[in-house]
Amino acid sequence: MSAGRRIRVEPSSGALGAEVSGVDLAKLDDAAFAEIRDAWLEHQVLFFRDQQLSPADQAAFAERFGELEAYPFLEPLDGHPYVIPIVKEKDTRMNFGGGWHSDMSYQERPVKATLLYAIEVPPRGGDTLFANMAAAYEALSDGMKELLDGLRAVFTAAKVHGAAGFYQNADHPMDKRKNAAREEARYLHPVVRTHPDTGRKALFLDLPHVERIEKMRVHESEPLMNFLAQHATQPQFTTRFTWKAGSLAVWDNRCVQHYALNDYPGERREMNRVTVAGDVPV
Ligand code: SIN
Repeated sequence: MSAGRRIRVEPSSGALGAEVSGVDLAKLDDAAFAEIRDAWLEHQVLFFRDQQLSPADQAAFAERFGELEAYPFLEPLDGHPYVIPIVKEKDTRMNFGGGWHSDMSYQERPVKATLLYAIEVPPRGGDTLFANMAAAYEALSDGMKELLDGLRAVFTAAKVHGAAGFYQNADHPMDKRKNAAREEARYLHPVVRTHPDTGRKALFLDLPHVERIEKMRVHESEPLMNFLAQHATQPQFTTRFTWKAGSLAVWDNRCVQHYALNDYPGERREMNRVTVAGDVPV
């Protein structure tokens, strides 16, 4: 455990993540936030327990990381345009975020941070997995790194949210906010991006949001995309967080992918999510 002047930081088991204690996120001063931000850049995802956060408190904490950005495909909470409810009811089969991805990577400026707060969680299950995209990049051979250098991928929301996307015709109660222009937009991002704050390189490619590698046909780029996706999410690059009501996680989408496990049939899970605007990846 390392202790700053204000917070305690206990690294998680696995390749990324740390649990932070000794802090009430609803009453945070600038010095404590500076320590949290440093720990976040070092560990890539932070976990907090036993927080009591209203939607306004969560948005206020998120705003310390940067300007908030609304999610385009879900209705936010009444009066809180940047807070979206992520709810899986007892009788719903499909969950939200149930595949490895980086949030809103399909935008020209993918979001920097996501803050997820647990309101109601199942007695067992509903964990979230996180994978360290910098460690995954660093573990590649020099030959593969050279191959990836300069490659860009075509990012789009269409595969998930589009007219023929994954969420259409699903028993999913969400994804009801239609936004055709945002669904079909395409942006090119580098397959290996450099973190603007740490300078560390990380793989940036998530299968739900990537159509193909630039200048390649879909069937040509698929083997490389599948290899990278499988490589990056091997257990040695991951950690796993078990939620309790009052837990909050904040992750760095510039170097982390995550996966919401859907292993709690017949149980309810309710979370509130806020996202923070990011840069154009380079
Ligand atoms: C998400 O992908 O943002 C949702 C993650 C989760 O519900 O665990």
